[in-house]
Amino acid sequence: MDHFTYRNGVLHAEDVPLPVIAAAVGTPVYVYSAATFRRHARVFREALSGLPRVHLAYAIKANPNLAVLRLMANEGYGADVVSGGEMVRALAAGMKAEAIVFSGVGKTHGELAAALDAGIGQFNLELEEEGEVLARLAAQRMREGRGQRAPAVLRVNPDVDAGTHAKISTGRKQNKFGVPIADAPAMFARLAKLDGLDLRGVALHIGSQLADLAPLEAAFGRIGALVRELRTAGHTITRVDLGGGLGVPYREDDVLPTPADYGAMVARATAGWDVELQFEPGRVIAGNAGVLLTRVIWVKPGSVAPYVIVDAAMNDLARPALYDAWHDFVAVAPSGARMTANIAGPVCESGDTFAMGRDIDTVHAGDLAVFRTAGAYGATMASTYNSRALVPEVLVDGDRYAVVADRVSPETMIAAERVPEWL
Ligand code: LLP
Repeated sequence: MDHFTYRNGVLHAEDVPLPVIAAAVGTPVYVYSAATFRRHARVFREALSGLPRVHLAYAIKANPNLAVLRLMANEGYGADVVSGGEMVRALAAGMKAEAIVFSGVGKTHGELAAALDAGIGQFNLELEEEGEVLARLAAQRMREGRGQRAPAVLRVNPDVDAGTHAKISTGRKQNKFGVPIADAPAMFARLAKLDGLDLRGVALHIGSQLADLAPLEAAFGRIGALVRELRTAGHTITRVDLGGGLGVPYREDDVLPTPADYGAMVARATAGWDVELQFEPGRVIAGNAGVLLTRVIWVKPGSVAPYVIVDAAMNDLARPALYDAWHDFVAVAPSGARMTANIAGPVCESGDTFAMGRDIDTVHAGDLAVFRTAGAYGATMASTYNSRALVPEVLVDGDRYAVVADRVSPETMIAAERVPEWL
């Protein structure tokens, strides 16, 4: 459910008509609904309320806008971060360091050190050597009389096919993530001996936009067996990070497991584990909370179907070009008429095509339209390719709205570039 609805034939974000935002801020622009974020944050929390101990770490890669992070912090969420930059954002938004989990297969020594100094709550180790480096950095700090053993869990690759797009599948053995589950017990034993590490459990994340809970449940089953094995070997296991991955409906007829279905499955799969369960939801929080508002530049006759050329492009919303992703396209003020069209942006690549031969609201040059379900992995993956301005972001809250990220102009970008004097 979201808060983008038609009132008197005009699409609104909560109480704000989208044409008002287009007139004030221009297009393309991402528009977020604060009420939708809050609702999703609460629905997800509620779905897990039957579990004994839960830590919610919003996967900020999905939508790291500072205002969104503040909103999630206000909802009591911590953060799952995957870079030093995301950590800086989470802290800047007012999230507590202890509530931050640091995931990622390529944390640099500098990032590990910065996160130790910030006092984050957990490092999710992706390989043994990372654990050794982290332990050394922490031990060094302890000798200097600052800091403590680094709280960590070991990310395990359960070798489960999540059944999602190959580029966002992470839990098969050929993927770069985690350590092979068969190697985990011996590795855990070696890492647990290191002075600088406080190894508390295990983590997994098998992929994103999961439309079926069965692979997750299978993976959780393997993790449960691993937890028992580790305990039998004498280790104290107090945390299991179950990652993110719950999908959202991108099309009206998509049927996906709900957060409640997910919560029930988790309760079943983790019964008796006696650990703090950690969750890293991203898309399920942010996906339906945003749209990309765009204006039609031309309707260009095509040999098969007309091309609706909009002022948003693959640099603003990369998902269709990267993953052949579907985003519903609807007119802001539809007339009721329909047309079959291709939808494309102005970037000079055929890949800059959002849809082919799609049945859509009839639009004309100058009309406003939106790509729906663009709140997750939208603005955050935007670039300035073709020297297009970096797309701005607006947050709506009831009848208020604010620009929460400026449009970054080519002039501003040029100001950060240098022509050496020898040219
Ligand atoms: N935790 C870890 C360790 C992850 O790698 C991810 C996503 C998440 C949590 C959050 O997953 P979610 O709940 O959002 O599914 N750009 C792609 C999605 C990449 C997801 C990467 N990892 C897309 O636009 O579909």
